[in-house]
Amino acid sequence: MCGIVGYVGYREAYPVLVKGLHRLEYRGYDSAGVALICNDGGLNVYKSKGKVAELERYAETQDVSGTIGIAHTRWATHGEPNDVNAHPHFSESERLAIIHNGIVENYALLKAALIENGYTFKSCTDTEVLVQLIEYVQTTNNCTLLEAVQMALRQVVGAYAIAIIEKGDPDRIIAARKSSPLVVGLGNDEYFLASDATPIVEYTNKVVYINDGEIAVIERHKPLRVVTLDNEESTLDVKKLRMSISQLEKGGYPHFMLKEIFEQPKTIVDCIRGRINVEADNVILSGVIDNRERFLRAKRIIIVACGTSWHAALIGEYLIEEWCRIPVEVEYASEFRYRNPVISPDDIVIAISQSGETADTLAAVELAKSRGAFIFGICNVVGSSIPRATDSGAYIHVGPEIGVASTKAFTGQVTVLTMLALTLARAKGSIEQPLYLQMLGELVRLPDLLEDVLRLNARIEDLSKIFTYTKNFLYLGRGYNYPAALEGALKLKEISYIHAEGYPAAEMKHGPIALIDSEIPVVVIATTDSIYEKTVSNIQEIKARGGKVLAIVTSGDQTVRNIADYVLEVPTVAEPLSPIVSAIPLQLLAYYIAVNKGRDVDQPRNLAKSVTVE
Ligand code: F6R
Repeated sequence: MCGIVGYVGYREAYPVLVKGLHRLEYRGYDSAGVALICNDGGLNVYKSKGKVAELERYAETQDVSGTIGIAHTRWATHGEPNDVNAHPHFSESERLAIIHNGIVENYALLKAALIENGYTFKSCTDTEVLVQLIEYVQTTNNCTLLEAVQMALRQVVGAYAIAIIEKGDPDRIIAARKSSPLVVGLGNDEYFLASDATPIVEYTNKVVYINDGEIAVIERHKPLRVVTLDNEESTLDVKKLRMSISQLEKGGYPHFMLKEIFEQPKTIVDCIRGRINVEADNVILSGVIDNRERFLRAKRIIIVACGTSWHAALIGEYLIEEWCRIPVEVEYASEFRYRNPVISPDDIVIAISQSGETADTLAAVELAKSRGAFIFGICNVVGSSIPRATDSGAYIHVGPEIGVASTKAFTGQVTVLTMLALTLARAKGSIEQPLYLQMLGELVRLPDLLEDVLRLNARIEDLSKIFTYTKNFLYLGRGYNYPAALEGALKLKEISYIHAEGYPAAEMKHGPIALIDSEIPVVVIATTDSIYEKTVSNIQEIKARGGKVLAIVTSGDQTVRNIADYVLEVPTVAEPLSPIVSAIPLQLLAYYIAVNKGRDVDQPRNLAKSVTVE
C-alpha cells in the first residue's frame, strides 16, 4: 500500500515521477504528491487529495522544474485522505521532505517526545513523525542526513520504505527499507527509485532490490551505495528485469481487469511453460524436485494466504490431499501469525501471494521459519519480499497484474498448485499413472478451454444488465468449485460494492436458505462432476423457495438448463481443474455489473493492490 517513486539524473524529474505514480496507483489512490529540488536549491512540495490526475491538475500552475525529486501515491492508514495528510511531508524547518510506505507503530510515543522538544505537527500521519525525528536527530547531533537517518531509524518500530531529499542538496536521495518494498533502477548517469519495478522498466532493466535494514545512498554522478543502519557497506546484487512496457498498458481494453481476464489463456501457457514435458509425460516443478526429500518427509502442509490467494489455497488443499495423501491446513495469514499455531520442523508451509508483499503473509512466513518449517512460496512478482524470504518456491509467471481485483493471478496460482500436487504425488508414488497422465493432458489443454470460455463474454455482458440494481447475491459451489464460489462473490463485492456471499451449496439449508426470495440471485456452479446430482438438488431447493438461479453448467447440460433461470455453459474439463474454468465467467460477470454501475473497476474504493500493512 502506498507507492513511492524517486528520480535523480539529467532528465526533468517531474514527468518521470508522475508517470511512475500512475504505474503505482494500484497501490493506493487516496492522495498524491511530489517534492522537487529546483535549480536554485529550493525544495518545493505539491500535493493533493485524490488520484494522481488531481495532482497533475494542481501542478499545472506550479514550478515543477528540477532534476531530482520524490513522489508518493497514498493508501491512508493514519489520518483521513486529505491534502494535509498527503505525502511528501516537510520537517519542522521545511529543510527535509519525506515519502513513506508502511506504518510507524511507536509514532505516538515519538510524537509526544518531539512535541516536548518544541516540534509542531500539521498532519495526523505517522510519516510526519519520521521526518521530524530525522531532523531533530540531525540538528542535535550536527551530523549528515545519512547519519541522522541511521540514528533515527534505530528508534522506529514498524514498517517503512522511505525516501528523503534535503533543501540545498540537489544531488542526493536517501532511501531506506524495513518490511516495505524498495527497488533502485540503475540508468546511465541517472537513478530511479520505486516500490516496485513498474515505474523503472521503461528506462532501464538493471535494478537493485534493497533489503530490510538497508539504506540506499543515491547520488548524482556517483555509484550507488547501500549501507546498513550500522553503516556497514552491502554488496550490490544487480538483477535484470524481465518485464516489458506493453505488459503495463491496457492494450486497447477499457480496463486492466478486462485485459487481464482475457490474457488468461496466454498466462496459463506462460505458467506451465518448461514445467510440462508432454513427450516425457512429465510435470516438473523444480522447487519441489530440488527439495524432494524435504517434501517426502512432510507430515503436514500448511498453506497461508489472504483474499483471492486464500481461495486458491483452498483448492490447493483439495488437490494435495486427493493426490498426495498429505494432510493440508489452509490458514488466513492474518490469523495464523497471531494465534501461536503448532508448527513443527516436519511441516511444509506454502505461502501464496500475487504481490509477494502482503504484510500478513510475510509475517506468517517469518513465524513458520522461526519454528523450523520449510517454506515454499507461490508468488507472481519476481524479486518481491515473500519469494526472497522462502526456502524454495515457484513463480506463477502471469505478468504484472494491475487491476486491483485479482483475476489471472488466481488461475495462475491454481495452475501452479495443480503442478505442485502432481509433482509431489508422482515423487511419493501416491497417484495412479493413468490419472497423472490425464491431468497432465488437461493442463496442456487448459489454454484452449479458456479461449472457449471467453467466448461467453458478450452473453455475460448482456446478462449482467439484469443485475445492475441487485442489492445482494449468493454464490454456491461444492467440492473444487466451493472456493470458486467464494472467489466469485469476492470479485463482485470488491468492484461493484454489491453485497455477495459465497457458500458451499450444501450449507444452504443450515441458515442461508432463509435469505432466498425472488430478489436475491443465486449463482450456482453446477458443472458435471462427482457431486453434480447433489448440486442439482440444491438448485431445486432454491427454486422451490422462489429464488432466481444463474447456473454455470457443463456444455450440453439439459437438467440444470430446465430448472435454472439463466445458464452459462463452460467446456468439459477434469473436476480438479474445473475451478480454473468456472472462475472466468464469474470474473466477467462481476466486471460487467461493476461497469454497468459506473464503478472504478481497476481502482475500487478503499482498496489497494498490495496490502503491505497489517
Ligand atoms: C482480491 C484481491 C485480494 C488479494 C489479497 C492478497 O481480488 O486481490 O484479496 O488476493 O490482498 O494479496 P496477495 O495475493 O498479493 O498476497
